[in-house]
Amino acid sequence: MYSLNNIDIKQFLTQYWQKQPLVIKQGFANFIDPLDENDLAGLSQEPSVDSRIVSQTRNSWEVSHGPFEDINAYCVGAWSLLVQSVDHFIPEADELMRAFDFIPHWRMDDLMVSFSNKDAGVGPHLDQYDVFIIQGKGSRRWKVGLPGSFEAITPHKDLSQITGFQSVIDQVLMPGDIIYIPANHPHNGIALEECLNYSVGFRAPSQQEMLSSFADFAIDNNLFTARYTDAKLAPREFSGEIKQHEIARFKEMLQQLLETDHFTNWTAHFLSQSRDKQEFDEQFMQNFSLQEVTEKLQAGVHFFRSPGIKAVFVEQQPSSIQDFTFYLQGEAFSVPHADKALVTELLNKADFCLNDTKLDQSSMFFTQLMTTLVNSGYWFPED
Ligand code: SIN
Ligand code: CO
Repeated sequence: MYSLNNIDIKQFLTQYWQKQPLVIKQGFANFIDPLDENDLAGLSQEPSVDSRIVSQTRNSWEVSHGPFEDINAYCVGAWSLLVQSVDHFIPEADELMRAFDFIPHWRMDDLMVSFSNKDAGVGPHLDQYDVFIIQGKGSRRWKVGLPGSFEAITPHKDLSQITGFQSVIDQVLMPGDIIYIPANHPHNGIALEECLNYSVGFRAPSQQEMLSSFADFAIDNNLFTARYTDAKLAPREFSGEIKQHEIARFKEMLQQLLETDHFTNWTAHFLSQSRDKQEFDEQFMQNFSLQEVTEKLQAGVHFFRSPGIKAVFVEQQPSSIQDFTFYLQGEAFSVPHADKALVTELLNKADFCLNDTKLDQSSMFFTQLMTTLVNSGYWFPED
C-alpha cells in the first residue's frame, strides 16, 4: 500500500490544486517502484495498450507508436517509452493511484508510466490536465512555469512543444518525490540518469464531450422527444427571419433538459465510464453462483475492485430513504436504502471484506448484488 506523506490535503486543495505547482519531497518515503522497465516494455508489445517512444537525436525528434515488437529498434539517442493506463494492467500501479483518492474517482484518469534514459524528455510543453508526477528509480530535473502565452512548435507532427518558459520551480526529483503540475502550466522534465516516472492524470471533460455524451444518452434512452410548438405564431415581414423570442424558446427547451433527473443520471453514467467496455468484459467477466459468492463473503474473503473501474454515485439528501443508485462503466445499479451503508463502503474501498459485525446486516440483496458485480468483472475475490 502506498500512503502519502508531507502533504496536508486540506491545505493542498486550498492553496495548490488547480492554482500553483508544488514539489512534495519524499511524498512517498522509501518508495518502491510498482514495476520496472521490463514490465513497461512488455506492456508496450500489447496491441490493446497505448504506448509511444519519443526520441531525440541531435536536433531531430521522432515519435513512434506501439505496439512494439522490437522496442530496441526505436530506442536511439535520448529516448522515453511512455505507456498509458498502466493501472489497468498492473494491480500495484493501481495501488499507487489509490494514494490520491482524496481527489474524487470520477476526476481521475489513468496512470501513465515513462521510462527514460539519460538526457531524455518530451521537451517543454503544456498539458490540459492536472498531474501528479511521482519520481521512481533514478532522478530527473523538473522545471515548471506559470500559465502565459508561449510560442508553440511542432518538431514532429505528434509533438506539441513550446520554445521556452520562465521557471518558478527548478528541482531535481529523487525516488519518492512528487511534483504537482496544474493544467496549462509549462513544464519540462529531463532525466539525469535512467529513470521511471509515474503520472497520475486527471480528467476534465470539455463542454463538447459533455454535449456529445448527453446526446448519445438521450438517443439510447429515447429521452427528450418533445417538439417545438408555436400556437401563437404571428405574421412577419421576412419569412427567413428568426425572432428573438423564438431563440429564447429554443434556449428554454434546452435548459429544461438540464433540470430533469435524467440529466443527473447522465452525469453519473458519463463520469463512471472509464474502460473500453468490450475489452473489459472479455478480460474480467466471471461465472460464480450466488452460493459461491455468499460463502466467500461469509468466510471473510477479500474482494478487490478491478483496476481502472470508477464507482460513482450522486450525493443524496441525508434524510432520503430512496433506493441508492450507483454507476459502474456507465451502468446503473440500485439497492434498497437499507443496504446503502454497506454498499457505499464497498464502493469506497479497493479491497473489501465483509467482517463479522457486518454479517448480520448483509441482506440477501447485497449478496445478489455482489454476485452480479463479480460476474460483471467489477470486483474479484482473492484466490
Ligand atoms: C514523462 O513522464 O516523460 C512526461 C510527463 C510529462 O511531462 O507530462
Ligand atoms: Co506533461
